[in-house]
Amino acid sequence: MESHLNRFGGMSIIVTGAASGIGKATVERFLSEGAQVTALGHHREKLEKAFADQDMDRLQLMDGDVAEPDLAAKVVAAAVERFGGLDILINNAGMGKGGTIEELSLEDWNRQMAVNVTGYFLMAKAAIAKIRERKGAIVMTSSVSGLGGDWNFVGYNASKGAVTNMVRAMALDHAGEGVRINAVCPSMTKTGMTEGMSDDTIAKFQQRIPTGRGANPEEIAAVIAFLASKDAVFVNGVNLPVDGGLSASNGQPAL
Ligand SMILES: NC(=O)c1ccc[n+]([C@@H]2O[C@H](COP(=O)([O-])OP(=O)(O)OC[C@H]3O[C@@H](n4cnc5c(N)ncnc54)[C@H](O)[C@@H]3O)[C@@H](O)[C@H]2O)c1
Repeated sequence: MESHLNRFGGMSIIVTGAASGIGKATVERFLSEGAQVTALGHHREKLEKAFADQDMDRLQLMDGDVAEPDLAAKVVAAAVERFGGLDILINNAGMGKGGTIEELSLEDWNRQMAVNVTGYFLMAKAAIAKIRERKGAIVMTSSVSGLGGDWNFVGYNASKGAVTNMVRAMALDHAGEGVRINAVCPSMTKTGMTEGMSDDTIAKFQQRIPTGRGANPEEIAAVIAFLASKDAVFVNGVNLPVDGGLSASNGQPAL
């Protein structure tokens, strides 16, 4: 989604989960608005392929596992060294493993927590001092799954629920320093995470979403950019549904 705005000229921004889906669209959105971006992906090859056509003047690529305790400091240091500081962090890398409490293995529970919760914690912890220097912002990709429950998704729900309250608590702690922390809460979005869904499952989602379709990643990226920008200067601690009206429903059927 090309933007006519130029809100991030000269700013240094880190985006995690950058090689695909919402993260990739977010990198592209920030670049189109003048930012300098450090894009973190899990695997180098996938990341390089994703940005093969991109001018590298204002973009640097880094790879690694966000659950690794040593990675976050390296990514922040690289952003500061190459682009002179850090204004904004987009915590977006995530994964989901389905299952009820009986079906979900401890290993899959732990991995989801490590990536979706501890990964966000580690990046925010490493970035906050630099962001404070620039009175910047953090935006996290949570989910409607962090606002209410899904069937067969207990681990993912728990992890995104943790992100929802991490955002609120961090917003309280850092508002006085001029730093804002918010989240987007997408419903079904056409990305790597949903590409394995059957037509039947997609139809079920479409039926529940009042707008009648899933989101495109660019539509989520546009809201991430809004929350990161000074346009949202008085928005703090918010978990904003970007869900085509899904959470407007109390759950009763459409008649
Ligand atoms: N697609 C949806 O329907 C949907 C809905 C709500 C929220 N979300 C959230 O959006 C975020 C982005 O996901 P997406 O939908 O773009 O899917 P995606 O699978 O295309 O993107 C997720 C990215 O995170 C990266 N990643 C996963 N584990 C990682 C790790 N340990 N270290 C580093 N990178 C890692 C993946 O390589 C991938 O590029 C996730 O946090 C996801 O939970 C997605």
